[in-house]
Amino acid sequence: MSGNWLYFGDNLSVLRRHVKDASVDLIYLDPPFKSNKAYNVIFKERNGAQSKSQIEAFRDTWCWDQAAAEAYEDLVVSGPEEVSRLMQAFHQFLGPSDMMSYLAMMAPRLLELRRVLKATGSIYLHCDPTASHYLKLLMDAVFGTRSFQNEIIWYYRGGGLSKARWARRHDVILMYSQGGAFFFDPDAVRDEYAQSTKERFAHYIGNVRKGHDFGVQRLHPEGKHPDDVWMVPIVAPSARERLGYPTQKPEALLERIIKASSKPGDVVLDPFCGCGTAIVVAQRFGRSWIGIDITPLAINAVRSRLEQTFGPGVEYEVDGLPKTVPDAEKLAQEDRYKFELWALGLAGASEQREKKKGADRGVDGRLYFYDEGPNAKAKQIIVQVKSGHVAPSHIRDLMGVLDRENAQIGVYVTLKQPTKQMRAEAAAAGLYTSPVSQKKYPRIQILTIEDLLKGGRINYPAGTRHLRRPAPRGNKEREAPERLV
Ligand SMILES: C[S@@+](CC[C@H](N)C(=O)[O-])C[C@H]1O[C@@H](n2cnc3c(N)ncnc32)[C@H](O)[C@@H]1O
Repeated sequence: MSGNWLYFGDNLSVLRRHVKDASVDLIYLDPPFKSNKAYNVIFKERNGAQSKSQIEAFRDTWCWDQAAAEAYEDLVVSGPEEVSRLMQAFHQFLGPSDMMSYLAMMAPRLLELRRVLKATGSIYLHCDPTASHYLKLLMDAVFGTRSFQNEIIWYYRGGGLSKARWARRHDVILMYSQGGAFFFDPDAVRDEYAQSTKERFAHYIGNVRKGHDFGVQRLHPEGKHPDDVWMVPIVAPSARERLGYPTQKPEALLERIIKASSKPGDVVLDPFCGCGTAIVVAQRFGRSWIGIDITPLAINAVRSRLEQTFGPGVEYEVDGLPKTVPDAEKLAQEDRYKFELWALGLAGASEQREKKKGADRGVDGRLYFYDEGPNAKAKQIIVQVKSGHVAPSHIRDLMGVLDRENAQIGVYVTLKQPTKQMRAEAAAAGLYTSPVSQKKYPRIQILTIEDLLKGGRINYPAGTRHLRRPAPRGNKEREAPERLV
């Protein structure tokens, strides 16, 4: 069995159930930033071309609800004293707010991460100025103020400069160690000297201190030790490594962290792994790895990224995702919502979280496609997932939803086999004709879980060359360089 693991699930329960005490050498985490945005995904097709499917990957939105209140109370009553006191102080200042809910979500996870980190290990918490000041206090409470090692500033360039204030152009990476004897190898990540330094050191520089002449001084042939301000370009829209997963971080950033704070053979953990930047870099440099994500889309993205980068030979175990129809039935019985999420991921769609009354009724997931060029309207695919009984009336209802939502294609994903009459109703719904290619696609498509597990996919127009950027929401100046194409 390999030492590499990819877990689908909430990292809190995965850490508690599967990761042993003091078993990890390096942790990198890039949790949602409390930016109140929903992130979309633009995937690349298997042949490397960009697909026009945009699906909502995850929501970075927090609100103070029952779960947040319970997490807070649990920390206050049963958490370590420093954490309990800090959470109460936060609560006094922030009140029952969205930020408080975010911190109540982060605190128990940081405590678990501390438990699994080896005495020689270190942890890098990637955040931005929205919450970095609170998170630093939380890290102090969890790991101890003496374990703080660095506040790394990741500076990046980008468009969309603000006129209202200084443009926001950096993220913050907080580095803490588990103890005093942590592993750190700055030689592995030396930076090139500035041209001016190289020129100055090309000659005798006359370095005389306290009467001692240091004579001819040479620069280190492999460059200088880096400092705590890093200029690493963001993943450019045209970059080969870009997958379209929102908030994807550059591999060069992770390369620094992994090379400096771990050795070959060490275990690297990313509990919010997204499309797996840390995992791919760990694999490249001979580390073992553990990735966790709550979105099936992320798990699927990591799997295809590993295969595209290294070929089919990478050894790892996947936990939490059904591999057979009985597995899927079990998941559906245990947790209908998780099943739905998984089935949507398998179909390449993401969940429609706002199950509001009215407008979104009958929509479990959506996919968007662009088959009329860059400036045309996005077309929609509506996905419904059923784990229970099936009936022809479901197909007629789905037709009604397509009309109401102005969608082009409807997909009915079912665990149970559809009846003949359902297939007949679906066939009677007709075809969608793509205006440019004139190709035809069934307007209602029924996909069983069995079909999907065997590699079946939604049939919709592929090969559009252009993508449309979704309208930016929230903080434009931060969003512009880092988000989507
Ligand atoms: C900012 S993204 C990480 C991006 C990643 N660093 C990359 O380069 O692709 C945060 C990820 O955390 C995941 N996530 C959010 N809450 C989670 C939880 N409780 N457990 C596991 N994953 C979670 C989201 O699905 C999302 O993929």
